[in-house]
Amino acid sequence: VAEPDLVGRHVVISAGGTREPLDPVRFLGNRSSGKQGYALARTAVARGARVTLVSANTALADPAGVDLVRVGTALQLREAVLKAAADADAVVMAAAVADFRPAEYAGGKIKKKDGQEPAPVTLVRNPDILAEISADRAREGQVVVGFAAETDDVLANGRSKLLRKGCDLLVVNEVGEAKTFGSEENEAVILSSDGSELAVPYGPKESLADVIWDQVAPRLAARRA
Ligand code: C5P
Repeated sequence: VAEPDLVGRHVVISAGGTREPLDPVRFLGNRSSGKQGYALARTAVARGARVTLVSANTALADPAGVDLVRVGTALQLREAVLKAAADADAVVMAAAVADFRPAEYAGGKIKKKDGQEPAPVTLVRNPDILAEISADRAREGQVVVGFAAETDDVLANGRSKLLRKGCDLLVVNEVGEAKTFGSEENEAVILSSDGSELAVPYGPKESLADVIWDQVAPRLAARRA
């Protein structure tokens, strides 16, 4: 049985991966399944939190007892997370948010034409939601947690990302085609803005979720006191 250490807390979790449409039938997407974010939502409910789960393009069963908000694109995810974060004690950005979106959306399906090269796709930057929330906390003492999926120089990239984003905790994991994404298990290092680093061994995403809440809960208690 979980410790009820999140009773009275509102936590916002983003999960899944955004899809950035090119035309009505095509999008730029990523491999995130949403399983880690959903595990965070279930474990937070078990620890007594009120949970808002902002879910981008997942195919998972709705967790019991959460406010579920479904979104598609990074801009929609930003709007939903900022709205929910206005009265949140903690925000955990587990979603894989597209860094770029197509500059233009074709209202009709893009057609191939005989003898013609395809038109290049121009991309524009999406806003960095995690950096924005970290810089502009809706509540004093709000705890902000980010994720970083890296393929190379995992820890070095994680440390610089923690500084760049300005969040309190950054959960760093190594990803590859057959690693992490869609898997039931995960391994990670949790980097903290206080300089501490916690290695979490390979195991169920629920276990990593509980270790993350173990890090968040005392930070909330310290800030309220
Ligand atoms: O920069 P990178 O995409 O590796 O950072 C990952 C972290 O930043 C994740 O927590 C993700 O949810 C968040 N993010 C975001 N807005 C973006 C891109 C990433 O909030 N546009």
